[in-house]
Amino acid sequence: MSPPANVAPLFHLDGEIRVPGDKGISHRALILGALAAGRSRVTGLAPGDDVARTASCLRACGVRMRFLGGGRVTVEGQGPDRPLRQPPGRLDCGNSGSTMRMLAGVLAGQPMTAGLDGDASLRRRPMLRVAEPLRRMGAAVRLAAGGTAPMTIEGRRPLAAITHAPEMASAQVKTAVLLAGLFADGATTVVEPVPTRDHTERLLRLCGAEVTSGGGRVTVRPGVLRALSLRVPGDISSAAFFLCLAAVRPGWRVRCPGVGLNPGRDGVLEVLRGMGAGVEVEERAAAGGAEPVGDVEVRGADLNGVRIAGPLIPRLIDELPVIATIATQAEGTTEIRDAAELRTKESDRISRLVAGLRLMGAACEPLPDGLIVEGPTILHPAAVDAAGDHRLAMAFAVAACLAVSPGVTRIAGSESVAISYPGFFEDLASLARPSG
Ligand code: S3P
Repeated sequence: MSPPANVAPLFHLDGEIRVPGDKGISHRALILGALAAGRSRVTGLAPGDDVARTASCLRACGVRMRFLGGGRVTVEGQGPDRPLRQPPGRLDCGNSGSTMRMLAGVLAGQPMTAGLDGDASLRRRPMLRVAEPLRRMGAAVRLAAGGTAPMTIEGRRPLAAITHAPEMASAQVKTAVLLAGLFADGATTVVEPVPTRDHTERLLRLCGAEVTSGGGRVTVRPGVLRALSLRVPGDISSAAFFLCLAAVRPGWRVRCPGVGLNPGRDGVLEVLRGMGAGVEVEERAAAGGAEPVGDVEVRGADLNGVRIAGPLIPRLIDELPVIATIATQAEGTTEIRDAAELRTKESDRISRLVAGLRLMGAACEPLPDGLIVEGPTILHPAAVDAAGDHRLAMAFAVAACLAVSPGVTRIAGSESVAISYPGFFEDLASLARPSG
């Protein structure tokens, strides 16, 4: 295991960071490319371990891919008549919930039996939410006691078309059901309690699938997908660490060009504005066609606390750790509610985040479905544990930058940044300027 990262306080911030490609869009592009007829071409693919897992699982199912360097990849699609090949062993999804849940939807529609497994963190995450609708569609899905991985899926074709109305908003579950719907005997519908990111719908349309959405319902019909040509935009969830950091101090500024601005993902920008930061977005032509893209610049200010709850939550679920981190520097109370999902991410992000921030001097309280942060407080360097969770490692790095006393914050589990953003610490270091 690599040694903990040491992060020193930052004295000034003024720069530009081009973040790596969007993780969620990258998973979906590989999967749809694998199912489509013909050769798909994707550029800007996310470099982290999670997307590499989706690629290796698809390869184990017989899909041919060529990685050409610099995030360029070609995928030879199986097309409508060639199902995936039975993998030689269990598919190892590593730490990636997206890989496991999305592939479960694909495997449900393949006439074979396949197993999906992952690391200790992934084995703790709830999988019944995908197993249940896929079973109703006719796949035999077995889980470990407790509704977790390992998962075994005995697929079939055609599946039965269903209408699925999950209690909780989840783009991964929606994606699994829509992907299975490609192999169903009619129209499959997901009714969402709250809208979530619509990357899957956009990419399916780009592939020529018949997808209709509106009024909280998304419907897909089976059909042949055509190959993709896609440029993946920068990942707003990765940019969020720098955007939030720059927001905290008047005079600080950061610009992240080419970031994906899916309306189901841009809640962090709304929150930064609500906290008082300057946020400017210059929209760019949607390269590759599927997703809105823009250059985002944030200017720091004296921030105020905010309340974050309700339908905003799915639009910033992955950004909540870093938002809570900068809330320690905001005047007043920040309250995050309706976010119990944070407890079932790569770690229990509520208790782990509160534990780490408190060690650094923050005033925060865990809640069953969120947390309360009182600010402003002075943060001090400390030894914290990211619990192998990439987003906590990066949130603690932001906290470390905001500490005021000399010394470094030691972040155990910091190697987990490789899940979504392998170059994170190098990019952060590139922004650091020694104090004058
Ligand atoms: C994702 C959806 C969200 C998010 C995850 C990526 C996706 O999870 O937290 O990091 O790409 O669809 P849920 O679907 O479980 O809410």
